[in-house]
Amino acid sequence: MTDFRECYAAKRMSVEDLAAEVQNGWTLCTDAALSEPVGFLAALAERAGKGELSNVTIQTLLDVYPLEVYADPALAGKLLGCSWFSSGGARKAVNEGRADFIPNYYRDIPRHIRANYEYDAVCVSVSPMDKHGYFSLGATASYSPAMIEKAKRVYVEVNRNQPRAVCGAQLHVSQVDAIVEHDVELPVLPAPKLDEVSLTIGGYIAERIPDGACIQLGIGAIPDATGMALKAKHDLGIHTEMFTDSMVELIECGAVNNSKKQIHVGQSVTTFAFGSKRMYDFIDDNPGIAILPVDYVNDPAVICRNDNMISINAALEVDLWGQVCAESVGTKHMSGTGGQVDYVRGACQSKGGKSFIAFSSTAKGGTISKVKPILTPGAVVTTSKNDVDYIVTEYGVAHLRGESLASRARQLIAIAHPDFRDELRFEAKKRGILI
Ligand code: COA
Repeated sequence: MTDFRECYAAKRMSVEDLAAEVQNGWTLCTDAALSEPVGFLAALAERAGKGELSNVTIQTLLDVYPLEVYADPALAGKLLGCSWFSSGGARKAVNEGRADFIPNYYRDIPRHIRANYEYDAVCVSVSPMDKHGYFSLGATASYSPAMIEKAKRVYVEVNRNQPRAVCGAQLHVSQVDAIVEHDVELPVLPAPKLDEVSLTIGGYIAERIPDGACIQLGIGAIPDATGMALKAKHDLGIHTEMFTDSMVELIECGAVNNSKKQIHVGQSVTTFAFGSKRMYDFIDDNPGIAILPVDYVNDPAVICRNDNMISINAALEVDLWGQVCAESVGTKHMSGTGGQVDYVRGACQSKGGKSFIAFSSTAKGGTISKVKPILTPGAVVTTSKNDVDYIVTEYGVAHLRGESLASRARQLIAIAHPDFRDELRFEAKKRGILI
């Protein structure tokens, strides 16, 4: 048997040499967030900047590094970014028509990859090889298995700061074609802002969550802040798409112990983690955190297997029918659907489950109401009127699921900012939905 350390040495090269392997017209991909191989991608951008590459596409999701492929307009025609979730640097590039976007439910990405894509190479950030010859894919496992199946070459970028997920995706050195070493500090999310609005919203939601519930917190400031309101709960569990800092707090203070879950008892389940350095240290070598593929973690049929499943997600606006937009401000891209709908559906199918969409009642210093008579033209519907359950602002809670249009309009107007309620009432009457 070949010694895997020799195997490692034989496959090791510099980021520049690895970037030099890439040919014109290749399609490359990486997994979400901390999975991005930032050294390799920078070397590739440098080659492209020198005119050495053309027509190379790179698929990414949740860009947490300032990647040149999205940041540098001069790379047009050389490197094309294609995002599964147009946030971070990708957001600006997509809005400027310099990058592409693939609409999706997060749980379906592995299926789309297996059905639609072939990659010339996949490159992911991994933690250093362990004593058995395995690399941990670290804080992300979402669609790497599908990507690797569909890739002609597998490249890994070893970063000693990448946490090792002992209950997460692993890759053996024998499955890898090339290895580069590139240590960078992992990007961090600013701590959630605990202001009066988020504390009030957190309080409303906490009142509706029983001890023993299983929670998911979505991306954005409000869901993470809401997590902080759950510290007085007992026996909570975690089954989530994104593992967040407030979840670390909930585990450390004893509110979460995962003891009442029906699946993965004793473990918090996620598909990727993004937060603070403290959180990365927390998930490192932690058998209490399972980081598993998104087609499993975000499948509503899996989510609903835990009783009292509670999902808490954010939005940009909602209309009086209860259609939720969480992805665009009018025609301006802000992000993707991510797992919002996966968790709304999964929570609503769970015994005792509830789904909350929470946001401050206004944007832009109180000048814009997030409760709208109709969605802003061009706005994308993320959660449909048929799936929506609870909507929460700092003015209260509306329960829309199964309710009539008139009841929805009345409840939503009651939780809109007082400055906008007359206008909303007028528009609702004009449209005949306030009977
Ligand atoms: N009209 C105009 N601008 C608005 C607005 C509205 N109705 N609502 C928000 N904005 C602006 C904010 O003022 C802010 O602007 P700024 O960047 O200039 O400060 C910006 O849009 C972002 O709004 P904010 O509320 O701070 O966003 P967030 O970071 O909390 O994220 C979502 C909210 C909805 C974008 C985010 O949750 C998301 O991407 N959701 C979709 C995916 C998802 O829910 N996944 C769940 C599983 S992880």
